[in-house]
Amino acid sequence: MPVHITFIDSAGTPRTVEANPGMSVMQAAKANNIPEIDADCGGVCSCASCHVYVDPAWIELFPPMSKIENALLSLLPERQANSRLSCQLKVTDEMEGLTFRTTVTIWPLVRPSRQPLSFGRTFLTN
Ligand code: FES
Repeated sequence: MPVHITFIDSAGTPRTVEANPGMSVMQAAKANNIPEIDADCGGVCSCASCHVYVDPAWIELFPPMSKIENALLSLLPERQANSRLSCQLKVTDEMEGLTFRTTVTIWPLVRPSRQPLSFGRTFLTN
């Protein structure tokens, strides 16, 4: 049975979506076009563009983060004590009414369509 999850964006606008247990919080956000959840890597924990702030009242509901998730989050200047990557959070039946805040991710690691890498000047030799 679906649960209701609310995402509150950085402007304070709440959006409540239905999510099925077993899917990730990121998948629930993307399925409902939640802004500020880009999920550029598709959920394989390599971009940090699915960053959310978990309501502190619910933070114990989730298992501890992996070393990889922690390392990615440590690269974000906007990280807080309740930061998590939503692709690493599974929806469960106990999450009815859960709230996340989202933010504009300042430095995501993967933005292939938006930020082409620049390697500076290229030197050609014969
Ligand atoms: S979607 Fe890329 S780290 Fe979560």
